[in-house]
Amino acid sequence: MASPAPDPLAALRNLRQSRRFLPTPVPQDDLVQLLEVARWTGSAKNTQPWHLVVVTDRETNAALAGYGDFTAFLEGVAASIVVAVEGEGRSVAYDDGRLQERVMLAADALGIGSGTAWFSSPETRQQVRELLGIPAHLEPWSAIGLGYTDTSQAQASPQLSGRKPIEEIASWGRYGTSAAPDAPRRAG
Ligand SMILES: Cc1cc2nc3c(=O)[nH]c(=O)nc-3n(C[C@H](O)[C@H](O)[C@H](O)COP(=O)(O)O)c2cc1C
Repeated sequence: MASPAPDPLAALRNLRQSRRFLPTPVPQDDLVQLLEVARWTGSAKNTQPWHLVVVTDRETNAALAGYGDFTAFLEGVAASIVVAVEGEGRSVAYDDGRLQERVMLAADALGIGSGTAWFSSPETRQQVRELLGIPAHLEPWSAIGLGYTDTSQAQASPQLSGRKPIEEIASWGRYGTSAAPDAPRRAG
């Protein structure tokens, strides 16, 4: 019997934030590949307003874990990539988020779990800057924690999981219309 066709969108739908990791290190080659993916992220006017600091030292990641309200999980990562961006406003925030999501999807494709951690205040971002020697024109808003997900542990509390139904977040043709119009269906 033929096996079912692979679902090309499964990885996109199933990507979740990892917060508990095994102690296994992430190979350097894989980290370089993640940087290569990050490098090719599109940005407004191709400004590429970022600098990425890869941190594999456990003590440094443990220090980063103390620099935010929800950063504690960085203590257990095998590596992190601190993303520092130049400038502010919606477009830079968009560029930053786009790069991070792309790195997280790339990590997933390599079998590596990931989670974003935000350094929540100017004071904590200054601590990050001093710890890693990041110059003043770059703002280290957050880090991507990386490692092999410890699947024996829960990754999030229930209120941080799940999603709204599609009817609540999308409309067809006009706001509030939930039914999809009759339209050609995919063959096969
Ligand atoms: C802008 C942004 C900031 C986030 N900051 C943190 C954070 O500091 N710590 C954390 O554990 N998760 C953080 N998250 C992850 C979210 O909590 C997570 O994506 C959400 O709860 C959905 O979880 P799931 O993708 O595992 O289902 C952040 C996500 C986004 C988009």
